[in-house]
Amino acid sequence: MTKPNLLVTRRLPEAVEVRALHDYHATLNLADTPTTPASILAASAGMDAILCCTSDRLDAATIAALPACVRVISTFSVGTDHIDLAAAKARGIPVCNTPDVLTEATAELSMLLILAASRRAGEGERMVRADAWTGWAPTQLMGRQVSGKRLGIFGMGRIGQSLARMARGFNMTVHYRNRSRLAPELEQGAVYHDNDAHFLAQCDVLALNAPGGAATLKWLNADRIAMLPRGAVVTNAARGTLVDDDALIAALTSGHVSFAGLDVFAGEPAIHPGYRALENTVLLPHLGSATIETRDAMGHLALDGVDAVLAGRVPGNLV
Ligand code: DGY
Repeated sequence: MTKPNLLVTRRLPEAVEVRALHDYHATLNLADTPTTPASILAASAGMDAILCCTSDRLDAATIAALPACVRVISTFSVGTDHIDLAAAKARGIPVCNTPDVLTEATAELSMLLILAASRRAGEGERMVRADAWTGWAPTQLMGRQVSGKRLGIFGMGRIGQSLARMARGFNMTVHYRNRSRLAPELEQGAVYHDNDAHFLAQCDVLALNAPGGAATLKWLNADRIAMLPRGAVVTNAARGTLVDDDALIAALTSGHVSFAGLDVFAGEPAIHPGYRALENTVLLPHLGSATIETRDAMGHLALDGVDAVLAGRVPGNLV
């Protein structure tokens, strides 16, 4: 039996590529060259399925122009904001993603941002690496204690809930803002807020963990930043589009926001240059799900979705 044709847009973990090559006529991106909509279109000729990533842009025009043979798009990500879902629906192309398997890794990364930003780990690391450390000093790089503080989580989905569990280990009080209130067994004592002003006033640390897209575009703007207590710490492990960069940079400059830990950026990898100029930022290259275990699981789940659609089944990871 002939194997279906699968386009894999970027390098994937070895075990996932081995499976893709075993089960499909897989076209791999061995040079791991970043894609453009045009390169995806060119490569999708004759493909039954596309396994893409968060760094690929499948906008409405690209999806509209995909060849008729493409029967499924499966993304190696939980986020789907890089794919125009309405355009895929209009074409009758199901989209699969990778929920659940990256929850703990991304929550860990959120916790890392909270700790690294609050405790000035980025500045310390840069100092030691630049051979600029002249020795221990009582007032050197004093940060903000995390233990016992109030953590506000914007977006209390799976990742937000996992972050809340981790934060309780630091004796943090958890507040959250979400589309709807969680059931008590999921809330685990976290305090729900039904408006931004009440929520933001409680945030010694604000962690952004909500999906990207139109509904959250520049949610953290100057007005909402002004509602934070002076000296709050801001972290973002979700999508850069949630933040109005000019407003956050102004707040980091004035000290209204003391530190920020950012793993994601609007327009990444071309980040707003203002962030690089600030010492009080910890800047990471979108590492949320980047553990060996998680990236393997994401790849296999993305392939499960392709397998299911091409076999005429409804995938468990259908968006
Ligand atoms: C996702 O899954 O959406 C992450 O941003 C990439 O792992």
